[in-house]
Amino acid sequence: MTAQFTVRPFTPADAPAWVAISNAVLNRQATAEALLEEDARRDAAQTHCRWVAVDGGEVVGTALLSFFPFNPPGFLSVNVMVAPHHRGRGVGRALWQTVQDEARRLGVASLATGVSDTDMESLAWAQRRGFERHLHRFASELDLNGFDETPFQADLERAVAQGVTFMDLAGADEATLDRYLNFVADRLTETPDLAGHPRWPLAQVREVLRLDSDPRPEWLVLALGPDSEWLGLTVMVSIFGGQAAYNELTAVHPSARGRGLALPLKLEAIRRAQAAGIGTMRTNNHSQNAPMLAVNLRLGFVSLPGQFELLRRGSAEG
Ligand SMILES: CC(C)(COP(=O)(O)OP(=O)(O)OC[C@H]1O[C@@H](n2cnc3c(N)ncnc32)[C@H](O)[C@@H]1OP(=O)(O)O)[C@@H](O)C(=O)NCCC(=O)NCCS
Repeated sequence: MTAQFTVRPFTPADAPAWVAISNAVLNRQATAEALLEEDARRDAAQTHCRWVAVDGGEVVGTALLSFFPFNPPGFLSVNVMVAPHHRGRGVGRALWQTVQDEARRLGVASLATGVSDTDMESLAWAQRRGFERHLHRFASELDLNGFDETPFQADLERAVAQGVTFMDLAGADEATLDRYLNFVADRLTETPDLAGHPRWPLAQVREVLRLDSDPRPEWLVLALGPDSEWLGLTVMVSIFGGQAAYNELTAVHPSARGRGLALPLKLEAIRRAQAAGIGTMRTNNHSQNAPMLAVNLRLGFVSLPGQFELLRRGSAEG
């Protein structure tokens, strides 16, 4: 088949077509508005370039080259997606070439990407382009409608018996917020996802918590010990135009591990999402994060297709 499509930079008018493709490929329900808001709140100093492949006026493929804070330092993320009916005719190849040219122009040789763990064809496509499997991230979802916490009474009582209480950051002063950001930054370095990576700057933590774009201090939750010491945290952000909550991080300080606090923390998050009228919670977990995966399973999270994260280290050669 002759290639008749063209590749050009993305414009805001492409947003509905973009999310139609990415929602189908990634099993999401993102909105065009959310995509444009995400672009608007990006730090202009960080790479974030979008292109589309257009055939007869129809957007048939998308490509994104962007900074992603969970990547190893120095890596940029690449995401190429082609509408299923337009695959196998070079659209992906052309978009990949565009992304690669831009990465080369930026002097970035190391790239990361993600492929659904149910899509072996796309995995092979990425591997033919020099990407190698780095880690596996599981995705899961909890239906909050009618979620019943009575099976977890013993877990809650165990936390109460330890003198544990929960608070959120609603009304917190600057010093407490700053302490929270540092607490999050420290806990992030302890996750399997970011093991060995440098500690995030606080501005990066602020951004991932949406503190400057969609602040929800009541979704920034802390577990406190009897002397008000900070033992753990859980954080949610709103996704899918407010239809779902994403549990970004649940973490327990190393000194408080093994005391059964992760599940009560998650229950706190669930209660707060329910109170906000939200029916679904999503989360992603590193496949080696056994304790968190076990907690999610007990709570009733249901597996969705996950993602292989792939890396292409390297020289700038194509
Ligand atoms: C991976 C993905 C982007 C490939 O898109 P695509 O448009 O089918 O890609 P291409 O057509 O360029 O390549 C697919 C294969 O079709 C064949 N092909 C390409 N052009 C062709 C043509 N003109 N005629 C016949 N066959 C052709 C080739 O075998 C090609 O593989 P190769 O380039 O490695 O040799 C697509 O499957 C997708 O959207 N997957 C989901 C998202 C994802 O996982 N992306 C990968 C990580 S970035």
